[in-house]
Amino acid sequence: QPADALTRAESLIGTIPDYPEPGILFRDITPLLADADAVRAVTDALIEPFAGRFDIVAGVEARGFLLAGAIAVAAGVGMMPIRKAGKLPRPAASVSYALEYGTATIEAHDDLTPGQRVLLVDDVLATGGTLIAAHELVAKLGGEVVGTAVLMELEALGGRAAVGDVHALFTA
Ligand code: PRP
Repeated sequence: QPADALTRAESLIGTIPDYPEPGILFRDITPLLADADAVRAVTDALIEPFAGRFDIVAGVEARGFLLAGAIAVAAGVGMMPIRKAGKLPRPAASVSYALEYGTATIEAHDDLTPGQRVLLVDDVLATGGTLIAAHELVAKLGGEVVGTAVLMELEALGGRAAVGDVHALFTA
């Protein structure tokens, strides 16, 4: 049962108080990633609303990479890494944003073809700053974001209002 598999996957996400800073409740997805059935369940569930409607999946560094890789293989599409600043040899676009803790800049290579349909994926939606920046980055590179998917939405931080329609498997 897919629903049971997802409930079990959710139970494997840990919560670590005061990491990486006091007052932050960190969501630890590595126990979920270590479990084959959980990885399969969340990969299929992240794809489901967008199946057949995207040409490439973009994952946000770092934990978004892990989900994007699984989605790419399962959906039969390529993947695009969206990286923190300074990690790429030929950044073609760059967007800065405020994070739940601190600030960040994301960059990507220009490996999209114009109009390519992009599914954006990350592990957690908090304030939404990262995903808004990722939308802007894909747009700058000529891609079309057709969907946004995350494992977990932290409702109290209001990211959904900022980002718009987000497919979240779990809420906290
Ligand atoms: C976390 C998380 C999301 C982002 C969500 O990344 O993985 O990318 O914050 O926050 P927001 O909705 O407020 O923007 P983090 O900055 O910890 O980067 P990392 O995955 O490289 O550790």
